[in-house]
Amino acid sequence: MQNVLVTGGAGFIGANFVRWLLRERPSVKIVTLDALTYAGRRENVPEHNRNIFVHGDIRDRALVEKLLREHAVDTLVHFAAESHVDRSILGPEAFVQTNIVGTFQLLEAARATGVKRFHHVSTDEVFGSLGPNDPAFTETTPYDPRSPYSASKAASDHLVRAYVHTFGLPATISNCTNNYGPFQFPEKLIPLMIANARAGKPLPVYGDGKQVRDWLYVEDHCEALVAVVEKGRVGETYNIGGGVQPTNLEVVQRLCAILDELEPERRHAELIKFVTDRPGHDRRYAMNIEKIERELGWRPRFGLEQGLRLTVRWYLDNAAWVKSIQETGDFQKWMNRNYEKRGEVKQ
Ligand code: NAD
Ligand code: TYD
Repeated sequence: MQNVLVTGGAGFIGANFVRWLLRERPSVKIVTLDALTYAGRRENVPEHNRNIFVHGDIRDRALVEKLLREHAVDTLVHFAAESHVDRSILGPEAFVQTNIVGTFQLLEAARATGVKRFHHVSTDEVFGSLGPNDPAFTETTPYDPRSPYSASKAASDHLVRAYVHTFGLPATISNCTNNYGPFQFPEKLIPLMIANARAGKPLPVYGDGKQVRDWLYVEDHCEALVAVVEKGRVGETYNIGGGVQPTNLEVVQRLCAILDELEPERRHAELIKFVTDRPGHDRRYAMNIEKIERELGWRPRFGLEQGLRLTVRWYLDNAAWVKSIQETGDFQKWMNRNYEKRGEVKQ
């Protein structure tokens, strides 16, 4: 990995990944390509002499090919996506455009220019939903996506695999569980709850709050991705996860307890409000991460409590970043659209 193109580097995980590379791989040069959609923030991309920012769309194949050639890119790490399940329910088209068509255009550009490694960042949601006693997803669990978001990610995973088998593209795929940490857009569960709790606003828990997610601190995800890019076998898929599976309600309660310590004037858990569930809401995700542990020696370093504390601290220290997003018309429109029709559900 010498010259890396990072797509979606102005979003949550991409921005953390660019920072990680700049810090830990001192000879790597980066080109960050991002369309700056509602989720992409120019200020998330660090100013650095080894990082060039390009404002552009992954569907623009000519642009991508030009960047790959001009910067002699050997490694492409693909994060750019529409990533929010609730938005995919209210407006699926952008998901098909970016996640499927965009990935296709990147694959074509990579094939034409001969990159040495194409790494595709994907999600555990492609595997569908688990019952309470089902074993965790492995790399060979059949795909069973259930939301427009996960269906579009599944489609892109299939395209990447097809390019490996048909054209010999040197690609790898990773499927990761829910991430949390600095720079996560404040419409997602954890940053939304932190922001609302601090403002004394209701904490909207969907349904009964007993849905289970496997949470991974974003820094751990970045390390896992580097392990796959540097040591993973071409054509292989690696599952990545945190190995901790609390219910949504437990996560929100933990956040409230941490905030109670830091801001004792309010009992934050009193703000919890159960609201109408998400349609088709996946009940449980859990990841078996034995393969990446065994083959690449990666395992998560941050426990949930430690990661949540670091995350709360970051959001407290970066309240201006959150506020600047909350003040945009798009954010306010989204909050109204997603929450105004969700009535309170008594438990
Ligand atoms: P995000 O929504 O925070 O960021 C996505 C970024 O992609 C934004 O900066 C956006 O501007 C950019 N983008 C969107 N459409 C684009 C286009 N057409 N061209 C160029 N740039 C475009 O997402 P995230 O949470 O950082 O997720 C990154 C990747 O990781 C996604 O592929 C997602 O599916 C995957 N993933 C996320 C999680 C999670 O918990 N967040 C878990 C597993 C996998
Ligand atoms: P989210 O952060 O949107 O990630 P994903 O849907 O990709 O797992 O949501 C995480 C969980 O939190 C999910 O089960 C939905 C739930 N949730 C709420 O209960 N309330 C909310 O306001 C949001 C945004 C999510």
